[in-house]
Amino acid sequence: MLKLIVCLDKNNGISKNGKLAWNVKEEMEHFRKTTLNSIVVMGRKTYESIGRLLPNRKNIILTNNKKLKIEGATIMNDYNEILKLSENNDVFIIGGKEIYNLFLNYCDELIISRLKKDYECDLKWEFNDKFFQLDKTIKNKEFSIYYYSSLRHKVIDGKLISENIIKKLVLKNKALIKKYKDIPKLVIIYIGNDYGSSVYVKNKQKLGQRIGINVEIISKPKISQNELLSLINKLNKDKSVNGILVQHPLPKNIDEELISNAINQNKDIDCFHPENLGKVFKNVQPKYIKSIPCTPWGIIEMLKYSNVELTSKNVVILGRSNIVGKPLVPLFLKENCTVQICHSKTKDLINITKKADILVSAIGKANFVNSKFIKEGSIIIDVGINRLDNKLCGDVDFKDCIKKASLISPVPNGVGPMTLAMLFANLINLYIIQKQEKI
Ligand code: GUN
Repeated sequence: MLKLIVCLDKNNGISKNGKLAWNVKEEMEHFRKTTLNSIVVMGRKTYESIGRLLPNRKNIILTNNKKLKIEGATIMNDYNEILKLSENNDVFIIGGKEIYNLFLNYCDELIISRLKKDYECDLKWEFNDKFFQLDKTIKNKEFSIYYYSSLRHKVIDGKLISENIIKKLVLKNKALIKKYKDIPKLVIIYIGNDYGSSVYVKNKQKLGQRIGINVEIISKPKISQNELLSLINKLNKDKSVNGILVQHPLPKNIDEELISNAINQNKDIDCFHPENLGKVFKNVQPKYIKSIPCTPWGIIEMLKYSNVELTSKNVVILGRSNIVGKPLVPLFLKENCTVQICHSKTKDLINITKKADILVSAIGKANFVNSKFIKEGSIIIDVGINRLDNKLCGDVDFKDCIKKASLISPVPNGVGPMTLAMLFANLINLYIIQKQEKI
């Protein structure tokens, strides 16, 4: 088993005077104990600090240590050799970001040490703290060690996958701007003053700007249905506008169906228009498709990025909404899955969910799905966005289900960022359609 210890301070966990940052006695003691029967791999600098605290160890391997001669220590600079060793031994590797980059994909357990709580770290996986933290030995203001388990490999990192998609969108958008000499434009209409919605709208604006898209927000604390319809009509006709998004939920005085129908099909980046949605259900040829429902599309992409073979899988979806549950059906069918939707009136729910190879939950009930609902080795996709004790959480009891699942998407940083990325993928596709059709 390969275990990796990463120190996220600038000096790989060693302060400038060469002293090991693990100045808390108990921390060091813990390290000594945990590595006693393991092979410890470290670089020269680390050895100079930590080596003296591990006396009489024959199980130390040094890397990059041309200058350093230590009796009894093996020298190994080829990381493949180190990987080979870990097939039959417990190997601990200690180092900084370089070590992390080299070994992360191979390691079964990750231990991260941080010098300061507020240490600014540009590594994306920092957010994962809460999910993989199995045990926190000692913590003081200066220092803490976090233990991460191999369970981390089961987590579908939606944020990371969405970043890959966004990078491609940035390039595609650049090429399109060059070709058509026109920057795509999205208009977001935000009605009311719901705090959550205002955050989502700002996130959409930020991402749009990153991709190189003009995002205009029209904010209306109050608006009548007719006024909203005329505003949409005006934007439909405006040739400089390529996409229109009316942020949901809408206030009670506004009929959602009327609004979805009013948006020009060629500017419908949500795929809420019944005709656009109908084409998805009919599984028409791609050339007739205008947009694809963002969350369902994000889920399929997420699974494909995670190398999940979808053909013949039994999929169970919890929730029959028009935004997630229902449109997921044609997308999974297209991938040759067998699909079943469950809802509040479904009988023997657990008997159905337990048969699912892939379980998608989109019901909006915090921690509703626990390990009793799922099959060993199944894939769990959590679409829920709930608040529990003022914290964001999904429909799935993550800690309980991760043990049984083979893959699981977390909340936050699972489906959410994927939805956002697909929204802009739709916008760019619609922009192309508009340019080609000269609409
Ligand atoms: N509210 C929360 N998510 C979305 C979304 O993707 N589109 C729209 N229109 N409203 C939302």
